[in-house]
Amino acid sequence: MEPNLVTAYLCLVACFILFYIRPHTPQNVREPPLIATPIPFLTPLFGFAKMKVKYLVELRNKYQHAIYTLRLPFQKIYVVNSPQLISAIERFKPFRFLDISVEAMIRICGISKEARKILRAKLDGVGDDVGLAYSLFKGVHNGLSQGKDVDSLTRTAIRLLAPLEHTSLPERRLETGLYDLIFLILIPATTDAVYGPFNPFRDPAIRDSYRVFENGFGGLIFGLLPSLTARGALRARDRIVFAFEKYYTNSYHLEASQLIQSLFSIYTAHGLQVAEIAKLEITTACVALLSNTLPGAFWLIYHIYSDQEILEKCRAEVEECVIRRYYDDETTTPIRLLKMSQFKEKTPMLHAVWSETLRVHSGTISTRYVASDTILDSQYLVKKGSIVMIPTPVVHTDDRWGPNPPLFNHQRWLQTDGKLPALRAFGGGSTLCPGRHYASDVILTLAAMFVMRFEIEAVDGWVEPDTRKAHLGSGVLKPDGDLDVAVKVREKGEGRWDVEFD
Ligand code: HEM
Repeated sequence: MEPNLVTAYLCLVACFILFYIRPHTPQNVREPPLIATPIPFLTPLFGFAKMKVKYLVELRNKYQHAIYTLRLPFQKIYVVNSPQLISAIERFKPFRFLDISVEAMIRICGISKEARKILRAKLDGVGDDVGLAYSLFKGVHNGLSQGKDVDSLTRTAIRLLAPLEHTSLPERRLETGLYDLIFLILIPATTDAVYGPFNPFRDPAIRDSYRVFENGFGGLIFGLLPSLTARGALRARDRIVFAFEKYYTNSYHLEASQLIQSLFSIYTAHGLQVAEIAKLEITTACVALLSNTLPGAFWLIYHIYSDQEILEKCRAEVEECVIRRYYDDETTTPIRLLKMSQFKEKTPMLHAVWSETLRVHSGTISTRYVASDTILDSQYLVKKGSIVMIPTPVVHTDDRWGPNPPLFNHQRWLQTDGKLPALRAFGGGSTLCPGRHYASDVILTLAAMFVMRFEIEAVDGWVEPDTRKAHLGSGVLKPDGDLDVAVKVREKGEGRWDVEFD
């Protein structure tokens, strides 16, 4: 056996013994009910490993608790299913996001001991002297909240993707994977807008590294001994970090979006060197910016094209927002422009399909650290040091959504009188995703351009790919495999296309 494998094996045996001999911390009667499992501590671990977030849906279906306790090795978890308790958690200060987020960043990015210390400092945001992590999250929220900076970012990304120049269709027809096609178009547009003309993702080798990273980074967060079990993702990460180190050393960020420049100032103000800033860029670039945007776009396009009626209705809506413009005279080929000022109000069906896509394919588990013993909703005691989990797929499939909640049915969004519950695909409360407008605007514009310009047929039929391999904690569950499609330029879609904002 390889020495690494021996170490892993011994670790596993040691953990197993420890879990068994460790006395059960007594459960207070006021704590949420404990789910009794056949093998204490380990059954939930196996449940998560095998079924990922769907394990929590199964437990909801079986027990129907508003909130319950799960015991994992060394960790007590309270899983919250009830919307009323979720709102209470979002209002309470002792339920902290940053503590968990920082530990995930550390595992994903592999920063130095010194940088870890800086990142973990002063997470509570109290007083003037706040820590790096707190300042960073504030910086991202400010940079991406509605206003002129995010408008400019979104417009740049949309302008870059709208002509679909990265898609060359030889003889106007292309056989490809749908996810591959979206990857090819979305990565350059979204990352160029953020990182500017020296964007490291312009290099195909860095895009390929991202592809390896996205398939394996779950192993960096949750895996036992990632150096053994997630080697590919680690190597890919290092290649991306190296590219960002070069980027910052050459001060290329000075030509990037305002967001990147602000984050760089925050890092340096807290004493981080370029080598560590480049490592932390993995969370901004690969996790926040790309990891949910690509699967989100995939599922939206999938649901539009796999249903002829949806496709035709979306086309009719988008058509209403398209104008022709001749720049010289009417004998030249016109350019067709998607008028963004009318887009939202004239495309209710497209927006309904997007909302339903987010509802059905979200895998988010909002996770909070309990900073002090707290009584929740005047009845449940939740104990300091525990973790609270709010599994979005549970919230998205309760009976408030109308008939057959697990089924994709965009009509839910068109037939309501505004009575549907709030989506949690972008989280909620103070940690509501700051990138939600950016991501949604870019993805919806991509879909609009697709329906106008392409016919897409699934080579072996529109069979929905599975998502079993998507890692625990994915915001949008990534399809396990790609879907082979034949893409053809529509007659009406030929020629030059662009967007117009005002
Ligand atoms: C379809 C695309 C996206 C989805 C589904 C998504 C989902 C989420 C969710 C569920 C959270 C909340 C986590 C929690 O409360 O536990 C979150 C937070 C966050 N998202 Fe997104 N996101 C998307 C795109 C983006 C983009 C494009 C960016 C950045 C450019 C971004 C940046 C962030 C950041 C920085 C946070 C942390 C917020 C905080 O700490 O307060 N996201 N996202």
